[in-house]
Amino acid sequence: MTLDIQSPSLTLALIGTGAMGRGIAQIAAQAGITVLLHDAQAGAAEKAREAVIATLAKLAEKGKIPADAVTAAAQRLKVVARLEELATAQVAIEAIVENLEVKRALFKQLEEIVGPDCVLATNTSSLSVTSIAAACQRPERVGGFHFFNPVPLMKIVEVIEGLRTAPWVGEALLALGRRMGHTAVRTQDTPGFIVNHGGRGFVTEALRVLGENVAPFHDIDRIMREAAGFRMGPFELMDLTGMDVSQPVMESIYHQYYQEPRYRPSPLATQRVAGGLLGRKTGRGFYTYADNQAQPIAEPAVPQARPARVWVSAAVPEWGKAVHELVVALGGVIDAGSRPAADSLCIVTPLGADATTTCLAQDLDATRTVAVDCLFGLAKRRTLMSTPLTTAAMTDAAHGLLASDGVAVSVIADSAGFVAQRIIACIVNIACDIAQQGIAAPADIDRAVALGLGYPKGPLSFGDALGGRNILAILEAMQDFYGDPRYRPSPWLKRRARLGVSLLTGAAD
Ligand SMILES: NC(=O)c1ccc[n+]([C@@H]2O[C@H](COP(=O)([O-])OP(=O)(O)OC[C@H]3O[C@@H](n4cnc5c(N)ncnc54)[C@H](O)[C@@H]3O)[C@@H](O)[C@H]2O)c1
Repeated sequence: MTLDIQSPSLTLALIGTGAMGRGIAQIAAQAGITVLLHDAQAGAAEKAREAVIATLAKLAEKGKIPADAVTAAAQRLKVVARLEELATAQVAIEAIVENLEVKRALFKQLEEIVGPDCVLATNTSSLSVTSIAAACQRPERVGGFHFFNPVPLMKIVEVIEGLRTAPWVGEALLALGRRMGHTAVRTQDTPGFIVNHGGRGFVTEALRVLGENVAPFHDIDRIMREAAGFRMGPFELMDLTGMDVSQPVMESIYHQYYQEPRYRPSPLATQRVAGGLLGRKTGRGFYTYADNQAQPIAEPAVPQARPARVWVSAAVPEWGKAVHELVVALGGVIDAGSRPAADSLCIVTPLGADATTTCLAQDLDATRTVAVDCLFGLAKRRTLMSTPLTTAAMTDAAHGLLASDGVAVSVIADSAGFVAQRIIACIVNIACDIAQQGIAAPADIDRAVALGLGYPKGPLSFGDALGGRNILAILEAMQDFYGDPRYRPSPWLKRRARLGVSLLTGAAD
């Protein structure tokens, strides 16, 4: 195969000039590639060309690109009215409507027009590349080329290899993605590919935490932002994306994997769609919006109460020590006995377990026991949970003391894995299973999810940073408590955690 992706005369056909087509055309033209723009709707391709040139002109005005780059890119963008005029293209990228039959019909037609070695790529985000390719006489030249919106800013592209895609086609698309300035990752043709598959844990587990009445949605968001370091909480994200978009994706991936419990959606989402509470676009989702700004939700008042004495469990020695030091720093009185005195507040530091289970395992008085999440450190927002029997006075005293240095405290109901532990463990577990299935290489899973979803770290690196063994322990404790196969650890995680190696460790050569 003689396709030279780096050639200065490379010509790309771009079919479908909506939001995605425009973005792809922009970065291709900026990379020195000639782009033939075509759209079924009369005038749409011309409009797209003008819009891309206007965007580039704005970038030049801001000094982000040289002024002559605008003229050069404009010369490379050519509108063609008829599909037949795409005959000279060496690569064709389709970004038309997300409909399998329409895409199959287009690819069949394209095959009659372009040369025998022209690569045919689809930007589909949810359809099977294999199925689109099956409509072609030469399915081996068809691959997926999945960009994210907005294309110029989301610097990641998934190259999807269908069952019959030839290796050189994957290689060519990887090289093309890189030439366009993006990180290109290779993935098998599976539902959700890497990014939309890897993102399942964040929102579905957050909805589950909410559905279990563990904490209000805004507290879950605050914990995920401030303690776990996400740019946006899961409910803010759902409001931004729109529940009319998020809920069908949750359903689709769940059913495409034959009701895999790890991806199980929540009835809370379905009901929100039915009620029209879609998010920012309807002015009301989880949050209420005025002028596109979420109405602020006040933090609960910090109680003035303080515990008489504090006994800290040493069951997890380093966390016991960290809480002990914090209590001392906050001016609390430590009960240093091996067993708590009759009036002491008891603090436990579980990993994966809930406060009740931990309290019973350590034979403590449930009316005086609270749990603190130490996995993310104690310097940022702290999560405090109580057992169903913990008295309000004890919870208030713990809250008052732990918030007395100005660090916010979220007080939640009892939950195996608190909030952040369980959501992150689900994210890491799903990424591990993507690796286990051989859908993509571990480093590509990490890069794609971090870039595509804006996570603070790739999910496998996140697991490494928190400790693979800790993630495994959280999932095992949750599976034990809930009896739900949703939390069963992936074999990838189990083996690497037990061996004490990085979750990015592939199979030995
Ligand atoms: N919007 C996103 O966030 C996003 C992200 C990743 C992938 N995608 C995928 O990219 C594709 C396009 O998405 P979009 O948001 O740009 O859609 P869009 O609706 O904004 O644009 C689609 C364009 O394709 C044209 N079109 C429709 N059928 C055609 C045909 N048979 N031949 C030629 N032109 C045709 C339409 O006139 C329209 O201009 C879809 O497959 C979508 O799933 C979208």
